Amino acid sequence: MKPASFQRLLVTSDVELAVLRQSVRTAAITAGFGLVEQTKLVTAASELARNTLLHGGGGYVEMEQVTSSAVVGLRLAFVDEGPGIRDVEQAMADGWTSAGGLGLGLSGSRRLVDEFAVDSKPGQGTTVTVVSWAARHRAGRRWDGDSGTGHPGP
Ligand SMILES: Nc1ncnc2c1ncn2[C@@H]1O[C@H](COP(=O)(O)OP(=O)(O)OP(=O)(O)O)[C@@H](O)[C@H]1O
Ligand SMILES: [Mg+2]
Repeated sequence: MKPASFQRLLVTSDVELAVLRQSVRTAAITAGFGLVEQTKLVTAASELARNTLLHGGGGYVEMEQVTSSAVVGLRLAFVDEGPGIRDVEQAMADGWTSAGGLGLGLSGSRRLVDEFAVDSKPGQGTTVTVVSWAARHRAGRRWDGDSGTGHPGP
């Protein structure tokens, strides 16, 4: 049985993209993510889901809370059965686009998450899987990670 935190959300329209962004935000808050961590994950999810919609012809996102030791995170998989990506390395390069975009969605989202994997087969589809961990749980104590100062919190 899937854990209670498991969600599958369709990505076949702009309205569903907006719903997805809100669902990711809510899941990130529930997982204890700070504001900056929430925003990084929502931004990455938005770009990857936009790719699912625009390049993959629509699909779905699976989201679930994960834990490793005492660390809480969120895993998201963006799945479509579209044309696939022929050259993943090229697609990951900053500025490369096949569709007149900025070519920053894949490369930018990779920098916003902790783990990132692309599984794509030409003619069969694409799955991009990402994981983000809640920084405040990483060291087993609360860090003021959102201030960007690099100093431990109180
Ligand atoms: N799910 C997908 N299915 C098929 N091709 C994809 C998929 N996701 C990305 N690609 C390919 O990788 C390229 C790079 O994607 P990326 O998101 O970086 O840029 P983009 O979507 O073209 O522009 P933008 O900066 O607006 O996101 C796309 O132009 C497309 O060719
Ligand atoms: Mg894109």
